[in-house]
Amino acid sequence: MSNQAVTNAIDPQHYRKTMGRYPTGVALVSSLDAEENPVGMIVGTFASVSLDPPLVSFMPAKSSTTWPKIQQAGKFAISVLGANQESVVRAFGGKTATKFESVEWEKTAQGNPIAHDAIAWIECTTKEVIDAGDHHIVLGAVQSMDIRGNELPLLFFQGGFGKFTPHSMAMFDDSLHQQLTTVDQARAEMETLAEKYNCGCLVGGKDSDSFVLLASAGSSRVPWMPSAIGRRVTIKAPFGRTCMAFSPETDMENWLHTAQSDDERHSLRTMLEKIRERGYSVSVLEEGTNASHLKDIQFLMDPGVESLDEPSEGTLHSLAIPLPSPGSGVPLVLSLYGLDIQAGTALAQQIVEDLKSAVHRILSNSTTQN
Ligand SMILES: Cc1cc2nc3c(=O)[nH]c(=O)nc-3n(C[C@H](O)[C@H](O)[C@H](O)COP(=O)(O)O)c2cc1C
Repeated sequence: MSNQAVTNAIDPQHYRKTMGRYPTGVALVSSLDAEENPVGMIVGTFASVSLDPPLVSFMPAKSSTTWPKIQQAGKFAISVLGANQESVVRAFGGKTATKFESVEWEKTAQGNPIAHDAIAWIECTTKEVIDAGDHHIVLGAVQSMDIRGNELPLLFFQGGFGKFTPHSMAMFDDSLHQQLTTVDQARAEMETLAEKYNCGCLVGGKDSDSFVLLASAGSSRVPWMPSAIGRRVTIKAPFGRTCMAFSPETDMENWLHTAQSDDERHSLRTMLEKIRERGYSVSVLEEGTNASHLKDIQFLMDPGVESLDEPSEGTLHSLAIPLPSPGSGVPLVLSLYGLDIQAGTALAQQIVEDLKSAVHRILSNSTTQN
């Protein structure tokens, strides 16, 4: 079949509908025209092409009246739009759009206009323009770039705008088969809790002498978190307290033996009793500590500051509760972190109750399924 025959066989509407199944990000390509006025167009075709040398691409339609102005400038900037920047698309998206008059923008050091709240920007010189049917493929040689904030990107899918919702991420490891089955049963609850309280939600478990992070959910305030799935931290007192408080006596004694002194052992024992009696562990952030600056995986899995009394002051950072895993004497730990709420409030109490109900539901579902 000739190329012409293939083209003729494809209904344009069907073509658009089929391609619409593929989501894209949304970017503003902008430059200065011959009169030094800012010009720009919205594209869904921006892509990273090469790291060495650094090249990016986008595809302007041959019918675009903006592209020739950008081409004449010989350089352009890409502003990657954030989830709350639909108004920028409205300003630039159509032929009658108001464009730069109605959006906040600024100039980069090289003089390219960029959208004020872009989550990332990339500046290029035009390297090559390749003919591609009713579009051009433009290759840009990257000159400079930067990222801003932790906003999620704006997404375009089947004619509508939306934002990325990170699903829970779970580890894949055969040796932890039983625990990961429990994790799978917990994932919907993890996502609900993380969304409801705008926090991160983790499940971790003990594997020989280490504690391993098995799953995470939520658009946490700690952006590096998803990549921490599978990370292991050696269980050594006081780390691992939530897990240990609900473990068999021998595991608990072995853990207590990792303490430095009899005094420490004594206070750790009191702490475990308190956690067991309460049913969960709780940590309060020290004043001036911001969860988004935490780089310590150990802190997130099991923050060290345990209040022996129910805390009534300060910022409640995390709550952790045991999640029994059938076939294992040592429970998994389900925790919420990055809560950023006032300790001692009715809301704090409600979160504890929600955590307990979530565990209850996970366990009754797993009993029904087994
Ligand atoms: C989400 C979205 C993605 C778009 N992607 C492209 C694209 O990749 N290439 C393109 O030429 N136009 C794209 N457009 C259309 C242009 O933004 C704009 O309508 C067109 O450039 C207006 O024509 P002008 O360049 O003559 O002003 C897109 C529009 C939207 C809303």
